Amino acid sequence: MPVVSLRKEPVRPRRMRWPIILLGLALASVASAMVIPSLFPFRDPTGLVSTYNSAGPIDQSNPFFQSLGTNGRSCSTCHLASDAMGLSAQTVRATYQRTHGQDPLFASVDGANCPNGVPGNPADHSLLLKSGLIRVALTLPAGAQFTISAVHDPYGCAILPDPQAGGQSVSVYRRPLPSTNLRFLSAVMFDGRETVQPLNNASTFQANLVTDLMHQAVDATTGHAQATSAPTLDQQTAIVNFELGLTSAQFFDNQAGLLSSRGAHGGPMFLFNQEYHPGTNDSLGADPNGQPFNPAGTFTLYTSWENSRSRFFSGDDDNFRQMVAAGEVLFNTRPLLISSVRGLNDNSALGAVPVAPFMGTCTTCHDTPNVGNHSFPLPLDIGTGHNPAYESDPIIANATSQLDFPDLPVYKIEGCPNPFDPSSTSPYVIYTTDPGKALLTGKCSDLNRIKGPILRGLAARAPYFHNGAAQNLTQLLNFYNQRFQMNLTDQEKAELIAFLNTL
Ligand code: HEC
Ligand code: HEC
Repeated sequence: MPVVSLRKEPVRPRRMRWPIILLGLALASVASAMVIPSLFPFRDPTGLVSTYNSAGPIDQSNPFFQSLGTNGRSCSTCHLASDAMGLSAQTVRATYQRTHGQDPLFASVDGANCPNGVPGNPADHSLLLKSGLIRVALTLPAGAQFTISAVHDPYGCAILPDPQAGGQSVSVYRRPLPSTNLRFLSAVMFDGRETVQPLNNASTFQANLVTDLMHQAVDATTGHAQATSAPTLDQQTAIVNFELGLTSAQFFDNQAGLLSSRGAHGGPMFLFNQEYHPGTNDSLGADPNGQPFNPAGTFTLYTSWENSRSRFFSGDDDNFRQMVAAGEVLFNTRPLLISSVRGLNDNSALGAVPVAPFMGTCTTCHDTPNVGNHSFPLPLDIGTGHNPAYESDPIIANATSQLDFPDLPVYKIEGCPNPFDPSSTSPYVIYTTDPGKALLTGKCSDLNRIKGPILRGLAARAPYFHNGAAQNLTQLLNFYNQRFQMNLTDQEKAELIAFLNTL
């Protein structure tokens, strides 16, 4: 088990321009090296992102970077340090161009719309090229409470017979989640399917996290890399120790400058020292340490910038830093109206079901301090898997029409009650592009429910949401503005975007 020791912040030179100089020097020396220096700065659309490795430089001889299967892929095919250990669609397209579609990323097993996709034919990889999506095939368990059929099947492989187990193998298309900042996870994978041991208790957290990630590494190797046998225990251990040593965050913003300047706490080193326990700051009031939920204290990275003024002059940088700080305050405290969310408005722990629409904030769902996932496992359906063409709830239809949906298969789910009208006896149909956790459990109550990811390193890994439906943060905020009836002003949107880009 890796031992994570707390380290002091390294002393930084005072000049703001040093990351640029460092970038130039390092780019020149590292291009073909086997080692990525810890904290190496990678450019992204709004600044620089970097990953701190508690074990020192990132050694690419680790099995994480090795091809352990049969199709030439490694973990780093989809989890890149340059992309905050995720994979941006921009990187996908550049890789496609550079290799004429021959990079192992485009292996037809899940790097094409369907397993019969032809390498080098861009139409067969349209979901990966447009939205950075990997196909995830999941077999509906026997005895599921609902039936599923495809009402829109653009590529012909929405539902295939499972060759081994029989049953229906359902194709969903998901973004790679970053393989970093893992010590803050409360669920592994969007649907939690690799949380083989729960991550909800401080006393078992560390051991269970290692168990889950070992299990995940095996599945990723036999799945994505099409290995015929599992990686060895030594390889699994090396992969998991490596992943657990990583902390990634944006650390320089083109407009705000160094994100740890003037008393601010952006960047990976502050995140490395961030305190965490399962349930910390729980928005539903169940922090095991008995601390009440504190929305205003959820993100506290840029408090010192609220009245930022340089000693010598006041200019655009100061104004931008104040925007970032204002965005942080909005994230913590800006009211929004939560309605028709599976996991909340049908959750009997919150009152009689259906739970009436209630006021919350971004932090109601993103409550882990300075990290932004949910500190207890709480998969939710906020509507991102609802296809606007098939949606009957006008609020969700308006919200999803703000997004740039890739052309995904649409599934019809029958046999479940309406969670927001439990007494109704009329047949209820759900249309979805991703049934979420219900594909594992077969339960109606899990339909469409997925976790909210850790919100660090966002700038380096667009597009957003599990299906990449928000091409950028503007689309994402336009979605939230409608979905939770926020009436955001343009200024508020700009502040929230400025803040999210610094994470
Ligand atoms: C072909 C692309 C691809 C490859 C190769 C790949 N992954 Fe992933 N990874 C994904 C996708 C897609 C997800 C999210 C899938 C989901 O939630 O259903 C993911 C999720 C994860 C997560 C979960 C993070 C979280 O927040 O829950 C971890 C950890 C991870 N991968 C590690 C690895 C490791 C280790 C390897 C190599 C053994 C690997 N991945 C290889 C695409 C890939
Ligand atoms: C009712 C719960 C809820 C509220 C309120 C909420 N979110 Fe989310 N958020 C989620 C869930 C669940 C996801 C995952 C959705 C998906 O992947 O399809 C998510 C995803 C995101 C993502 C994308 C992360 C990624 O890696 O793709 C961002 C960014 C985000 N939320 C920001 C915000 C902001 C900003 C607000 C407030 C304006 C907010 N959220 C309010 C639940 C919520």
